Amino acid sequence: MASPGPNISSSLKETRTFAPPAEFSANAHVRSEAEAQRLRDWAERDPDGYWSTQAESLQWAKRWDVVCDWTGAPHAKWFVGGRLNVSANCVDRHVEAGNGDKVAILFEGEPGDARSLTYAQLLVEVCKFANVLKSLGVVAGDRVTIYLPLTPEAAIAMLACARIGAVHSVIFGGFSAEAVADRNNDAKSKVIVTADGGWRRGKVVPLKANVDVALAKSPTVETCVVYNRCDSPVTMTPGRDVWWHEAMAAASADCPAEPFDSEQPLFVLYTSGSTGKPKGVLHTSAGFLLGVSLTHKLVFDIKDSDVYWCTADVGWVTGHSYTVYGPLANGCTVVMYEGAPNQPHEDRFWRIIEKYKVSVFYTAPTAIRAFMKWGDQWPKGCDLSSLRVLGSVGEPINPEAWMWYHEVIGGGRCPVVDTWWQTETGAIMIAPLPGATVTKPGSATKPLPGVIVDVVDRQGNPVPAGEGGFLIIKRPWPSMMRTIYGDDARFREAYWSHIPGAYFTADGSRKDADGDIWIMGRVDDVLNVSGHRLSTMEVESALVGHTQVAEAAVVGKPDDLKGESIVCFVTLKQGVTATDELKVLLKAHVAEEIGALARPDEIKFTDSLPKTRSGKIMRRLLRDVAAGKVSTSDTSTLEDYSVLAKLREEDE
Ligand code: PRX
Repeated sequence: MASPGPNISSSLKETRTFAPPAEFSANAHVRSEAEAQRLRDWAERDPDGYWSTQAESLQWAKRWDVVCDWTGAPHAKWFVGGRLNVSANCVDRHVEAGNGDKVAILFEGEPGDARSLTYAQLLVEVCKFANVLKSLGVVAGDRVTIYLPLTPEAAIAMLACARIGAVHSVIFGGFSAEAVADRNNDAKSKVIVTADGGWRRGKVVPLKANVDVALAKSPTVETCVVYNRCDSPVTMTPGRDVWWHEAMAAASADCPAEPFDSEQPLFVLYTSGSTGKPKGVLHTSAGFLLGVSLTHKLVFDIKDSDVYWCTADVGWVTGHSYTVYGPLANGCTVVMYEGAPNQPHEDRFWRIIEKYKVSVFYTAPTAIRAFMKWGDQWPKGCDLSSLRVLGSVGEPINPEAWMWYHEVIGGGRCPVVDTWWQTETGAIMIAPLPGATVTKPGSATKPLPGVIVDVVDRQGNPVPAGEGGFLIIKRPWPSMMRTIYGDDARFREAYWSHIPGAYFTADGSRKDADGDIWIMGRVDDVLNVSGHRLSTMEVESALVGHTQVAEAAVVGKPDDLKGESIVCFVTLKQGVTATDELKVLLKAHVAEEIGALARPDEIKFTDSLPKTRSGKIMRRLLRDVAAGKVSTSDTSTLEDYSVLAKLREEDE
């Protein structure tokens, strides 16, 4: 990771506040700010006592001996000596408690097909698929890639891995064949689970065809299991490819859940960092499960009767933590919707809320801004009175979007919880408790109990209230990442080398006079495009991989809808002519290398890039050029001033 950027200045001024409605607080898990503060004080004073009390909520085969072992920092071990099975916690125990008939998953496909699975039915499916994996030779510790649409099979495959101690690596269906091959190879996956395709905006996304390309370059993958979602034509390779439905039909539903060590790896999830190579963030079992179940319960104030819908795909961490593990560990009824929010019309989400009487809804600011643009008539045409809590995640939510969400979707009565966290943190770290916290549009408010954060300068000194700085986390927490799969040196360097003894989030932030945190965005080379994390270097390395490109620099440009859009400055090899056709080709090339989510919005050809005398590209300047701003950045180290002047001319 690049060293922290310039000191962050903060200008946002937002003074509106919203206290929780009295009747909401009266029935909430945490009913007042005083109660929330008591929990925070307890967790700060006696972390072992706090976390071990919370861990009683999980089902253990063997109780732990030590709550947290931090002697090997930055490698934490949580609930040392304990043993449990994550899938038994998410499924079996609810059936054992007599809730087998409760609906676990309410699935709606994009074409309008619907299906529900009770906890008892989910248990059968998970056991069968665990037996399928076993029959393919998968044993505890093996890696299994999951590249599926957002259907119940994704959750079933994840839970089946957890049941037998295999480590899943879920890849978002929007990633390309190249990206799938890279991740297969990094994780050395043995099996990949995919589908013929998934529905998106009325079309079939050809997942199996992508996998066929990826598997030509993935030597470790022995078997490909194919779920038939769309009845679209696929090529099955004999000896390698097996149909999900055929394997399931032959599998026994008897698969006892074997207890595993608390620190048994649960999953690897690839996310972008400051270099071109995505990081395989590794999470383990007990601490992760405690983190996601506890935060799911507290932040969304989950009750037995709730119908909960998180719109995130399972390919992202939000889908792992808050579509699958957190809610299922809490025995909740979860809505899962496969497709696009505007298919067939712009009211699809609101129709789903009306149809299933969704009470807790969790989505991303980029989606909220799209809904605002599409107009109030869409939500206003639906009955949204079942809603009681609204969540936001993935990027800073601008106050206008927060207010619209609160008023138009929540009818002014639902607390809005803006939840800050990361793939690396596993679970929500900073968020309001909806029955306790006075919220402010645009602020994630306060850290949850047991999460000790600070806003500091480059040297690690706390900055005064109201000033911008780097957000750090000062104590280990149960759902923290354990390492980067196969690259522990990068784990230490990226997260633990910036501020001694603290976890470096790479987010800029500010704490106001009330102690509320305002997240201001990344300070490294990570872009946040529609709530998806992408590294500028990933896009750059895709561009320079093209035969006609000499050099590329990629920056984010503020975008009203997507948060950031991708702008690429490209120098071409000698003799290559800069044409509009080439721009189109290069955009397609990046989409092919990484996935459609990384398709550049703009390509600007230039003769040279602004560099420091030591040869580093000055992305700060390019960001200003891309945004059409007069640069206030320090240019004293710029090697050739004429480059910048020229870039501006080219922009006009
Ligand atoms: O910059 C922060 C932003 O998203 C980053 C984490 O991205 P990812 O690992 O993909 O996880 C997204 C879902 C948890 C953070 O470093 N971010 C996430 N939530 C918020 C946010 N920025 C501001 N407010 C949030 N609520």
